[in-house]
Amino acid sequence: MHSLGILGVGELTEKVVHGLRRAGFAGEILLSPRNAARAAALARDFDCRVLADNQAVVEAAELLLLGVRPPEVAAVAAEVRLRPGQRLVSLAAGIGLEQLATLFPAAQCVRLMLSYAAQFNQSTVVVCPADGETQGAFASLGNLVALEDEAAFELATVAACMNGWFYFLLDDLQQWLCDKGMAEADARTLVLGNLQDCLLSARTQPGQSLKALGEAIATPGTFTADGLKVLMHQPVGATWGAACEVVLDGLLTRSKLPLP
Ligand SMILES: NC(=O)c1ccc[n+]([C@@H]2O[C@H](COP(=O)([O-])OP(=O)(O)OC[C@H]3O[C@@H](n4cnc5c(N)ncnc54)[C@H](OP(=O)(O)O)[C@@H]3O)[C@@H](O)[C@H]2O)c1
Repeated sequence: MHSLGILGVGELTEKVVHGLRRAGFAGEILLSPRNAARAAALARDFDCRVLADNQAVVEAAELLLLGVRPPEVAAVAAEVRLRPGQRLVSLAAGIGLEQLATLFPAAQCVRLMLSYAAQFNQSTVVVCPADGETQGAFASLGNLVALEDEAAFELATVAACMNGWFYFLLDDLQQWLCDKGMAEADARTLVLGNLQDCLLSARTQPGQSLKALGEAIATPGTFTADGLKVLMHQPVGATWGAACEVVLDGLLTRSKLPLP
């Protein structure tokens, strides 16, 4: 990729710019002008250029990244005319490939899912369908997962929401330690450190199921097992499952909505 055009300079695309520059991407990054303060800061600090309007970005860029919220996608489509075969990589959750093809008829559309860890080049980078150009352009943002199946991509979007939910679980656990009198910084270190242990063990033993790794620790008679008994009586898993179902339902509904 020689140049990247961003339509929609927001929270996520800002992190994409940080991650790409951090990984050494030296090509042009061209920004749409809306959200002027953020675009100006990126131009100043990350060597980007803010263009006059969305069409100017389309014309100047080789590859386009669509970073507006889903309800704004149709409005952007009405404002721009892409070159035949130009790649449009969409971050808009729940807007399917068929809908994108209808809205941007000339474009070659690809979907992309990222987390904020893109700014540290540590995001899960999910691409659908597999596409060499797109994968080459964004692989530096983290760990690449290419999915051919769009239904699997919607599930990957639910997994991306888990990323946000984990913070609330971790906050609850930290809060419990603080309520018992521990200093906030120590509680944070302990919660994150124990999570880190868990991630490291799981990553370095891919042949072991997550459940087996937990069971190896919660052996009968341990304090871990005592606590686990209580956890298994609470509908925590059911609650998380219900949250996943709500999100998946919303994504599938949006992907079937007729376009304006
Ligand atoms: N945030 C996440 O963690 C996350 C994760 C995965 C996927 N996504 C997807 O990524 C996309 C962006 O999310 P976000 O959280 O970064 O949203 P955001 O912060 O609201 O950014 C969207 C940006 O698009 C701008 N915009 C709106 N209409 C526009 C138009 N017609 N032309 C040019 N720019 C326009 C907005 O400007 P104004 O502020 O002026 O409206 C805003 O700066 C969404 O589609 C979301 O589904 C987000």
